[in-house]
Amino acid sequence: MYTPAHGAASARGALQERDTAEFAALRLLVGSLAHDFNNLLTTIAGHASLIEAEADPGSEVQESARAVVQAAERASRLVRELRHLVRPTPSEPRRVDLHEVISEVVDLIRPLTHNRVSIHLDLRAPAAIVKADPEQMHQMLLNLLLNARDSMPDGGLLTVETAAEEPTGRLSITVRDTGCGIAPEDLSRIFEPFFTTRRAQGGTGLGLAIVARIVKKHGGTISVESTPGRGSAFRVSLPAPEQTQSSSA
Ligand SMILES: Nc1ncnc2c1ncn2[C@@H]1O[C@H](COP(=O)(O)OP(=O)(O)OP(=O)(O)O)[C@@H](O)[C@H]1O
Ligand SMILES: [Mg+2]
Repeated sequence: MYTPAHGAASARGALQERDTAEFAALRLLVGSLAHDFNNLLTTIAGHASLIEAEADPGSEVQESARAVVQAAERASRLVRELRHLVRPTPSEPRRVDLHEVISEVVDLIRPLTHNRVSIHLDLRAPAAIVKADPEQMHQMLLNLLLNARDSMPDGGLLTVETAAEEPTGRLSITVRDTGCGIAPEDLSRIFEPFFTTRRAQGGTGLGLAIVARIVKKHGGTISVESTPGRGSAFRVSLPAPEQTQSSSA
């Protein structure tokens, strides 16, 4: 099992500083790219809608135009997610039902798996209430589920489990996949910003760095177990609401 806190202590301070500067630069870049992208997508969707409306009903042209509109809308949603991913994080923690967030994120992921991945929910925690920023919980789960999906290009099983930890009352959330797994030599690097083995597929290597930051900010811990060729399990443990210290970190 690997937890990011096990990293080399001497390197940690330097890494955190670089982290902040890199995030700040990236936030600017993504913010301006997202803005331009949205404008382009609005143009694409707008013109395709016009073609759809003008085309002969039921014709191939109309079908194609509709497909373009739908793809542009999906791209627009992805850009929105991307923006959320790197936005600054002024947070107003409140009571959040993580079971609700999990089902929202699963609904979002399902159409992105092209029916190749079965999704199984095992929500055993009697109550999955945490004191947290709901947006950030969404972002954390979305990144873990996207990674699980990405690890199974030929399909597999994605499981999301919750449980109340005994005797602490903390809440654990485990995202499990039957995908490619993580090479032992990569395990200590996956939480670093910009570490990715998926650059050719458009990976930025920021997903897990953001997840780790969110978990830490909420007084939680994250650990991972993985067997190459068999799959991985990412487990997040969060304090119950009454254990949460208010923190602006
Ligand atoms: N569920 C998983 N199964 C196998 N490898 C994983 C999994 N989750 C993360 N990894 C490994 O950790 C690396 C870093 O993950 P991270 O989410 O930070 O970036 P990414 O997924 O590569 O890019 P992005 O999140 O920007 O799409 C991945 O490139 C991959 O090698
Ligand atoms: Mg990722």
